Amino acid sequence: MPEPGHIGGDNLFARLQAQLEARGLVGIQPGPVDDAPTPGEPGHPEYHRRRRADWALSRWQTATPFRYQQATATHPAVKQWADQAATDPRTAGFLLLTGTFGTGKTHQAYGALRRIAEAGPSRYEVIALTAPDMYALMRPGGSENGPEHEVKRLMRIPLLLIDDLGTEKISEFTEEATYRLLNERYNECRPLIVTSNLPASAPQGPTLADRLGERIASRLSQMTTVVEMVGADRRRGAA
Ligand SMILES: Nc1ncnc2c1ncn2[C@@H]1O[C@H](COP(=O)(O)OP(=O)(O)OP(=O)(O)O)[C@@H](O)[C@H]1O
Ligand SMILES: [Mg+2]
Repeated sequence: MPEPGHIGGDNLFARLQAQLEARGLVGIQPGPVDDAPTPGEPGHPEYHRRRRADWALSRWQTATPFRYQQATATHPAVKQWADQAATDPRTAGFLLLTGTFGTGKTHQAYGALRRIAEAGPSRYEVIALTAPDMYALMRPGGSENGPEHEVKRLMRIPLLLIDDLGTEKISEFTEEATYRLLNERYNECRPLIVTSNLPASAPQGPTLADRLGERIASRLSQMTTVVEMVGADRRRGAA
């Protein structure tokens, strides 16, 4: 009689052993089970980063004009700013690209936005527009939703690019609209990219501060990475 709790007893164990031996299944040691996902499988952080990056890049493509669809950030300071904006947007501050015509400001600006998308951020929403288009939107009757709605949208969007700031004639309206927008983004520490033909500072001649007013220039001067693009007009070089 087998002891209570000892089902089958030694006899059963011996029979099982014999059957395993008959099938050649003795001596097999159980190994560790490696079921950790690879970078190509769901569950791996890299897999999910790539999924977010694909989605962000499709948003970037929609926001980017055809001419700049191939744009990549090549300037070291632009790359560094974009990396910061991707990992910790609230500490990135503003990026101001200045320089004369055709030096590649707009190219670097869209390149920076692409680099942020490629990093696969948890949130990627972007508006990119020229300053004249922005003012047109903000004017009464300039959009279906009304100017206040547009200003709020530009204030709150996680990523904003204003291309060619300072080219248009400044009016009380444009100064006020620019001030409200930049001040809100400044207060909330939301990233902003601005390109301008006007320099941030110059010994003589007009600067961005002269054109936009000191209130705005003062906000632009703090926490702003200023990148001066130099070189010949790339458009003429290509002609
Ligand atoms: N790094 C680059 N590689 C290849 N093409 C470039 C690069 N930078 C700029 N370009 C091209 O050169 C031309 C001028 O560049 P871009 O439009 O960026 O200049 P910009 O400084 O914004 O000029 P503007 O002040 O007139 O607006 C564009 O056709 C752009 O696609
Ligand atoms: Mg440009």
